[in-house]
Amino acid sequence: MSEEEVRKGLAGVIADYTAISKVNPDSNSLLYRGYPVQELAASKSFEAVALLLWTGELPREEELTVFEAFERANRSLDSRVKAAIDLLPLDCHPMDVGRTAVSVMGANHALAQDSSPEAELDKAQSLFAQFPAVVAYDQRRRRGLGIVQPRTDLDYSANFLWMTFGEEAAPEVVDAFRVSMVLYAEHSFNASTFTARVITSTLSDLHSAVTGAIGALKGPLHGGANEAVMHTFEELGIRSDESREEAATRAKAWMEDALAAKKKIMGFGHRVYKNGDSRVPTMKAALERMITHYKRPEMMGLYDGLEEAMGEAKAIKPNLDYPAGPTYHLMGFDTDMFTPLFIASRITGWTAHIMEQRAANALIRPLSAYNGVAERHVA
Ligand code: SDX
Repeated sequence: MSEEEVRKGLAGVIADYTAISKVNPDSNSLLYRGYPVQELAASKSFEAVALLLWTGELPREEELTVFEAFERANRSLDSRVKAAIDLLPLDCHPMDVGRTAVSVMGANHALAQDSSPEAELDKAQSLFAQFPAVVAYDQRRRRGLGIVQPRTDLDYSANFLWMTFGEEAAPEVVDAFRVSMVLYAEHSFNASTFTARVITSTLSDLHSAVTGAIGALKGPLHGGANEAVMHTFEELGIRSDESREEAATRAKAWMEDALAAKKKIMGFGHRVYKNGDSRVPTMKAALERMITHYKRPEMMGLYDGLEEAMGEAKAIKPNLDYPAGPTYHLMGFDTDMFTPLFIASRITGWTAHIMEQRAANALIRPLSAYNGVAERHVA
């Protein structure tokens, strides 16, 4: 193989087929099982979208009711998972907690080594139901607060916020959270999903694949960017007494300096989309609703100022992590909890891909072009 044929970062390589989602950079569109993600975010629950990703179809009413009942019945934090979390230091990264929790769930799942389609779906749905309790408990223990038990009268998103903050969130906050979950759920062969597929391709188990995917998601070039976006806002300084215009002017100046210093700005750019991320307008609208709800116009000033300066200097557009970061901040999550929220959502896409990989498996094992020393011999 010649060096010209090596595609660094597998850029532009089509590695397999998928029927789960279609990312179209030319039209800036994203389809989940054929449905535009904006339409799903406008009117479907995250629970319904999860079923769509797993089964290929939006659920009929009775199918959704059955799944909602399962999800509500399996929300409590498993005592063995809680015990494992309690062993972890309070200053470790919350992604380490998420990764450990999924690994423990795998070790304890009765069907862990059963890879039949029924067992895989059961494991996927259990992870979906249990992961919010991991994030909520971890957020609370870091604040010195006790666990809040789930409520079965609330839907997934409302209960997630309830378990985290111990109070019922306003309907518009619940809705913005739901929108973020729907938008983060699936995005074809991104690095973490591809990791999950590589692990599955060896005929390893679902929890191992999800644990590996969490490791891939943690990095700031991928899911860790939503946290890193907030670090930018924090570095800039969030001043609640500032007007939108003042904040935008300050943000523009900050971005010009950062780009002059050749800094990589998290939350901007994308391997596939070069003219903007299809999910950003929907997430930005949700952020705007949160800014109105929490009366924090200066946050929109920072957002617009950074985006405008980046656009003028390099024509690089924001990705989904850019509006998601400040949205989660306004809701009250600590910055390092943002990427675990991405896990809670992407569990759906990852597990759908694990099932798809399993159904038509081929070991994923590419070639490499050797560029080390020429053959030599031990004297
Ligand atoms: C996610 O793949 C998916 O689908 C992922 C995801 C999903 O839903 O699963 O969409 C979620 O991971 C979103 C991406 C989150 N990451 C970030 O926000 C990190 C910051 N972004 C970049 O580092 C970058 O844009 C990547 C890693 C996302 C994509 O990079 P590529 O395709 O490898 O492109 P590149 O790094 O080679 O950049 C090309 C050029 C370079 O300039 P030149 O050397 O050609 O002059 O664009 C510049 C880069 O320096 N550039 C940036 C930049 N992103 C690209 N410059 C400053 N800041 C940036 N953010």
